[in-house]
Amino acid sequence: MQRLAQRWQSSRVEVGFVPTMGYLHAGHMSLVESARRRVGSRGKVVVSIYVNPTQFGPTEDLSRYPRDLKRDTQLCRRAGVDVVFAPSDQEMYPNGRGDAFTTYVTEEVLSRGMEGASRPTHFRGVTTVVAKLFNMVQPSVAVFGAKDYQQAAVVKRMVRDLNFPVEIVVAPTHRESDGLAMSSRNKYLIGSVRAQAVVLWQSIRKVQAATRHAAKPLPAARLKAELKRFIEQHPAARLDYAEFFDPETLVPVTKVSRGAHMALAVFMGKTRLIDNARL
Ligand code: PAJ
Repeated sequence: MQRLAQRWQSSRVEVGFVPTMGYLHAGHMSLVESARRRVGSRGKVVVSIYVNPTQFGPTEDLSRYPRDLKRDTQLCRRAGVDVVFAPSDQEMYPNGRGDAFTTYVTEEVLSRGMEGASRPTHFRGVTTVVAKLFNMVQPSVAVFGAKDYQQAAVVKRMVRDLNFPVEIVVAPTHRESDGLAMSSRNKYLIGSVRAQAVVLWQSIRKVQAATRHAAKPLPAARLKAELKRFIEQHPAARLDYAEFFDPETLVPVTKVSRGAHMALAVFMGKTRLIDNARL
């Protein structure tokens, strides 16, 4: 991959990159379209498919994370992707004697709260693998989804702090017709749990409506308590966190008004879902 990238660089071919963990859906494919728009028909679009073990916690769903490389490559081919890069674990993290993997990239502020609080080693895994992939693919543009808002913020900060020569584009969240944000993990939602999962989007819509109509800022603590009650009326749902924060700094706000950002994580049975939006 890196040799190919260097060849492209020397002939001034622009590279647009979409890193994924595969099991591709329409949300991923919208990032591919955005990458293509950015580099044009003469540029190259690369999609990486790698279920990155370092971003999963010890009790998380690494081993059962859905995979279908054959279907993913077909989708990519149909979408005009030039290269699907699907490295093996041994290539990414050599663990043989003497050549074990020992270098990590960590972002230390934006990655603390929310996903970082619930999943303590998650962002270290994300920044490390994204840094590695950037060095392999050497893109001029990389596209991330707003679905993982904190991830996009952390990656943008890493790129700025470590001078990666890449522009980060954040593309909007793709949703099912009932509002559920598309996710590879939606495959886990079966029967009535799938219908209940719309509660994340309903929660966001409720707070958007509340802030739109409020004469003055709303106390975050009260909104959180109300959301917990609303969400946990659904038998399969348990709120992990709901947070209101400044969209740039990710610093939580105690008074919520329009323009703040909202994110939440909800367990639907064993499946943990996240969503977010600007209020
Ligand atoms: P993955 O969850 O496969 O997502 C890959 C990219 O697709 C991310 O940028 C994510 O934000 C975006 N995405 C997922 N669902 C989306 C949706 N419904 N609408 C728009 N974009 C969506 O995020 C990861 O993989 C990994 O952490 C990765 C960055 C690849 C590092 O391992």
